[in-house]
Order: sequence, then structure tokens, then C-alpha cells
Amino acid sequence: MTVIAIDGTFSSGKGTLAKKLANHYGLAYLDTGKLYRAVAHKALGKNISLEDGVACAKLAKTIKTSDLDDPILKSGPVGAAASKVSVHGDVRAALFKFQKEFAQNPGKAFKGAVLDGRDIGTVICPKADIKLYVDADPKVRAERRHAELIGYGEDISYAEVLSQLIERDTRDTTRKNAPLKPANDAHLLDTTNLSIEAAFETAKQLVDVVLGK
Ligand code: C5P
Repeated sequence: MTVIAIDGTFSSGKGTLAKKLANHYGLAYLDTGKLYRAVAHKALGKNISLEDGVACAKLAKTIKTSDLDDPILKSGPVGAAASKVSVHGDVRAALFKFQKEFAQNPGKAFKGAVLDGRDIGTVICPKADIKLYVDADPKVRAERRHAELIGYGEDISYAEVLSQLIERDTRDTTRKNAPLKPANDAHLLDTTNLSIEAAFETAKQLVDVVLGK
């Protein structure tokens, strides 16, 4: 069973990379950000305060795989709300089991799993076979995200996207519970000047070494 743990900043390209690696190696893929987004979406829908860690943790305990398919989860406001609910230790604890089980039992069709998020290499899968930490210049990430949001039909300026991204990075890296940081044994991948294909090739070379290919 192979486990690949991918962490990194918002819009660094980690999700695209994770999906490509999962396809290439026949591994199941879990975008763990969607778990936090699903909790945030439920909280917003039920008028539950994002500051209320206990109430949000109750919602987190109810999250199922089918909750993760809603396209609304990809929106900017849900992402920002996800970053707020993810600061609570109770919410993180409630989502721990889902992630751990996915990594350990990805299903018979798969040879293992790829998980991407903020604390996969540090908390969820500290014994992963390989850990990648993906980052890029904030301005380049904001350009990518801006193009993506315009594609979803959102009306937002580049400057606004950049300022939200910096706010999100700051919250994710400075929170008390499982802050975003590279695991000590993570390989750092800076995608500022890399195409999706080039990032994939670089990551593939690292994984091939670990898998003895
Ligand atoms: O990766 P994505 O942008 O979908 O994540 C949304 C938010 O969920 C992040 O900004 C982060 O605060 C939180 N998150 C987290 N731990 C993870 C995945 C996401 O705290 N493993």
C-alpha cells in the first residue's frame, strides 16, 4: 500500500498534481480541503457561527463521501469559510478518522492513496511513503485562482483575490492546531515557474525513486 501525502499553500497546484499522481500510480485520491469546505457549507446553510468550534465539530462528524461532490464547495466564499472552521481543534479531530480510514482502506481497486491538504504529512499520514510540499509565489497563485474564479462566473478582481489569498495563507500557517508547514521529511516543490506537466514530471521522478521504479 503506497501513501503519498501532499501539502501546500492555497492555489499552489497541489490538487492538480495530486490527481495526476493518483491516476498515474493507480491510487485513490482524497482532496481533504473538501471536508473542511463541506463543514463550512453546512454551517453557513444552518446559520451556525464559524467561530463555534463545538457546533462545527458536530457537523464535521456527519460528513459523508456524498457531501463532497457539490460544486458549490469550490466557490471562493466557501473556501474562505473553510479556512475559518479549520482552526478549531474539535473540527480537525472530528475529520481525522475519515482521512485516516481513506489512507488505510482506499478500496480494492487501488494500490494506495494520495491525500492533499495542509496537515497530511505532519498529522494525518506522518508515515506516508513520500511527502511533497507544494508552494508558489503568492502573485502567481493569485493569478491562477483569479482565472479559475472568473471561469466559475464569479465577479472578483485580481487585487481582491491576492488579498484574500494572503489572509488565508496567514490563517493557515499561524493557527494553533495543525498549522500548515512542511513536514521535516517533505520534498519541497516550487511551482512558480513550472507548468502542470513539469511539476508532475518532477514529482514523478521523486516518487519513482521511493517506489524503486
Ligand atoms: O485546499 P482548500 O483550499 O480546499 O482548503 C480549504 C481550507 O481548508 C484551507 O484554507 C485550510 O484552512 C483548510 N484545510 C485544512 N487542512 C486540510 C485541508 C484544508 O486546514 N488538510
